[in-house]
Amino acid sequence: MRKHMLLIALFTLVIASVADARIMAKGRGAKMNFDPDSIPAQYKAQFDLMTRKCVKCHTMERTVIAIQTGRAPITGQPFERQAVKAYGIKMLRKPDSNMNKQEIRDVVMLLNFLLGENAK
Ligand code: HEC
Repeated sequence: MRKHMLLIALFTLVIASVADARIMAKGRGAKMNFDPDSIPAQYKAQFDLMTRKCVKCHTMERTVIAIQTGRAPITGQPFERQAVKAYGIKMLRKPDSNMNKQEIRDVVMLLNFLLGENAK
């Protein structure tokens, strides 16, 4: 019985932490983006940059889902710290990405921060 209770308590804890883990998003579909209120002041500039530049070819929904689920929604590849930089470079190299290396670096920094927040 005691063991049973312990298991239930543990289970509840795990569920609660999973429910809390997600970084907040606002809007649905094409209008989806990270909730600006969950972006701290020191990342606002990068957030603005991402919101302007990373919606040229697709919506922010793709990026929000990648952060929230830890999976890149199109290719199904893991989207975690080691992978984020590679995705940044992949986006940079696309024809007419209209971004430079510094801008990609800034967005990658922000994405890594968001991944960390999401894992909390
Ligand atoms: C020049 C067009 C273009 C720009 C600009 C662009 N993307 Fe993409 N993005 C794509 C295309 C095309 C795909 C489809 C999958 C692929 O080719 O990698 C994609 C896919 C993605 C995916 C899903 C990857 C997968 O493997 O499922 C994410 C996440 C993403 N982009 C994030 C970003 C971010 C963040 C930025 C800004 C730094 C950005 N994109 C800017 C064209 C672009």
